[in-house]
Amino acid sequence: MSQIQEEIAQRRTFAIISHPDAGKTTLTEKFLLFGGAIQTAGAVKNNKITKTAASDFMEIERQRGISVATSVMAFHYRDKLINLLDTPGHRDFAEDTYRTLTAVDSVILVVDCVKGVEAQTERLMEVCRMRDTPVIIFVNKLDLEGQDPFDLLDELETKLNIQVRPLSWPISGGQSFKGVYSLYDSKVRLFNPDKTRIAKDVVAIDDLSDPTLDELVTGPHADQLREDVELIDGVYEPWDAAPYLEGKMAPVFFGSAVNNFGIQEMLDTFIQIAPDPRKRSADVRDVAPTEPTFTGFIFKIHANIDPRHRDRIAFLRVCSGTFKRNTFFYHTRLDKKLKFANPATFLAQDKSVIDEAWPGDVVGLYDTGNFKIGDTLTEGEHLQFRGIPSFSPEIFKELVNKDPMKSKQLEKGIQQLTDEGVAQLFIREVGNRKIVGTVGELQFEVIQYRLEHEYGAKCEFQAKPYYKACWLVSDHPEKLAEFKRIKGTEMVKDKDGNDVFLAPSKFLLDMEIANYPEITFHFTSEFKTAKA
Ligand code: G4P
Repeated sequence: MSQIQEEIAQRRTFAIISHPDAGKTTLTEKFLLFGGAIQTAGAVKNNKITKTAASDFMEIERQRGISVATSVMAFHYRDKLINLLDTPGHRDFAEDTYRTLTAVDSVILVVDCVKGVEAQTERLMEVCRMRDTPVIIFVNKLDLEGQDPFDLLDELETKLNIQVRPLSWPISGGQSFKGVYSLYDSKVRLFNPDKTRIAKDVVAIDDLSDPTLDELVTGPHADQLREDVELIDGVYEPWDAAPYLEGKMAPVFFGSAVNNFGIQEMLDTFIQIAPDPRKRSADVRDVAPTEPTFTGFIFKIHANIDPRHRDRIAFLRVCSGTFKRNTFFYHTRLDKKLKFANPATFLAQDKSVIDEAWPGDVVGLYDTGNFKIGDTLTEGEHLQFRGIPSFSPEIFKELVNKDPMKSKQLEKGIQQLTDEGVAQLFIREVGNRKIVGTVGELQFEVIQYRLEHEYGAKCEFQAKPYYKACWLVSDHPEKLAEFKRIKGTEMVKDKDGNDVFLAPSKFLLDMEIANYPEITFHFTSEFKTAKA
């Protein structure tokens, strides 16, 4: 095996995602505990934003040391190097999560056994399916009285529209939770509620009829487990990794994150079945990780909100070849060569300068304004990686300048913040007014706060009652021109200069779609990547 093949085989790059409160933060922490990256529970700062106020958000960001330390958590587990990418828990920052999903090779989706599939669980699964990302589902909080596991599996299958296959099974639940049985390697692990240490009681049982099971699991639970496993074997196909790797089937694990339970089964199975760095599609061709020349793309930009350090950190996912420090790479959008003196990686909780990085790794690059989300670096080849399209925002507001002396600062600030992906920016063709679109109110507070504190600009937002943003394309330029003329102020350009129609209501949108068959109305900016 060549060095690059060895490095790739070692790596697992993934994200943990969930509807808020299902247990993402707790599970992340337990993984770090198993990986030896932290010694005690409670060491990972909770990045949850519970109060919806920008000042709280900023305070949390500050406490987290500009979040960078926890944006990527790399740790060793057995013979693997695991890159765990953090995603924001708050729904208002969902777009940030979707973008992070472009940089991972697989995900673990956490579901609360009491609440089952929730709104954000469905949306996240949809995003995973757009790129056929392999998904493992972790059903959490088995120590609480939840739904029957078979009913839960049915719910996962129907609501998430994906085939499922249990790989571990709970022995009872709630008050009488006894443990989990690993269907993957036939081991029983008994529950011993302990929030800080790792449960060690593992008993391998090759044959479930073994009377040891009755000694270990008293009462009716041993027989119940035998019955359940028989049913699982009858209902589900034998385990096969291929449909999982194609994103068509999700293995399911059960456990309790806060009690460290069922996690090691999942982690041990994860490192065996989860994909190593996969090929990525770019506009002109697919790029295999084993290619000797370096390629990578920016999936996240993090501003340093400390006013004394105004730099930003752009997060690069290495897709092929070797990234090297102090080496010129080609920025394909700007048609410019750049080199990086202090590229950083994030092993455990320490940030350190690295000399080289391999496919699957995430490197933090200090940026003075060269990067936008989705930018590609290569060794000279002109290609652009495909990402997750922008979705139509849900809330639209017009940006109003409150300090005419600072309009330059406002202009620069809003451009930079939207480059970071904090919100989408649309510019009205008539009158050059700026409309900011987001998925949540919290972003407006964040933008206002940051414009003031980082750029010295004051602004206000005026709500606009738009229903949806639609990206328009047409093979009939005269029809498009007519539509734009008639729509006037409802026509805007996005940051890349594409025509976008801000539809005032569903009714009017449906009417225009019927009236203008020559124009295609896209509900995401996806057509751009398809066209490119
Ligand atoms: P999130 O990142 O997905 O938003 O969820 P997080 O891990 O913060 O967990 C949400 C709440 O659920 C936390 O309680 C956490 O302790 C609890 N939790 C996580 N795993 C389990 C589990 O296996 N069983 C039970 N019963 N609870 C679990 P909290 O009260 O919001 O916070 P905290 O004060 O306990 O930290």
